[in-house]
Amino acid sequence: MIKKAEFVVSNSDPSKCPKPERAEIAFIGRSNVGKSSLINMITGKKDLAKTSQKPGKTQLINHFMINDQWFLVDLPGYGFAKVNVKVKEGWENMIKTYLTKRSNLCGVFVLIDSRLEPQKIDLEFLLWCGVNGVPAALIFTKADKQSKTKTNQNVQKFLKKTEEIFEEAPDYFVTSSETGFGKESLLDFIDELVKE
Ligand code: GTP
Ligand code: MG
Repeated sequence: MIKKAEFVVSNSDPSKCPKPERAEIAFIGRSNVGKSSLINMITGKKDLAKTSQKPGKTQLINHFMINDQWFLVDLPGYGFAKVNVKVKEGWENMIKTYLTKRSNLCGVFVLIDSRLEPQKIDLEFLLWCGVNGVPAALIFTKADKQSKTKTNQNVQKFLKKTEEIFEEAPDYFVTSSETGFGKESLLDFIDELVKE
């Protein structure tokens, strides 16, 4: 249960993030997949994280303090083709440095667009997480956009692909920031992660 959610700080340099003295959960995924919207949905604060119809909205590492207890982090997306190569590489380096160096990180949610067939870029990113020991779970977003049947088909296809990456199937959630679908089960899972 999230009773309080406050913005703390934005950083471009992972080493300048708040002292790693509290449990931390981060949201990552392709640009426009719905990371910031999901953060607003689970915290019940619709303007906490900035969202946009245009990909590339979130450009920094954004820390939020939850219940005066743990950090929730909104990250820029990967794979956004429309920014120049240098900027794109800069974001990707920042994200990868953050994900591998952040000592208090207890869970990383990789968001996947539930409307799409498995995408190479997401599978490659997950493989990178696996190789680097980043504790990844999956969230399939935008479930309100198509039928349950279609969502389930895409989810199953994606999970099948992850068998080539992980020995054990990753934990996964299906959500909609539009309807609030999936909020309870995701929050229960996060509660356990930040408790450990
Ligand atoms: P970047 O910060 O650019 O990487 O994007 P992001 O992953 O943070 O995505 P953001 O939350 O800004 O959402 C992108 C667009 O998708 C916005 O127009 C949102 O309103 C829309 N969106 C996000 N989640 C959902 C959802 O569950 N359902 C629907 N219908 N739209 C969604
Ligand atoms: Mg964002």
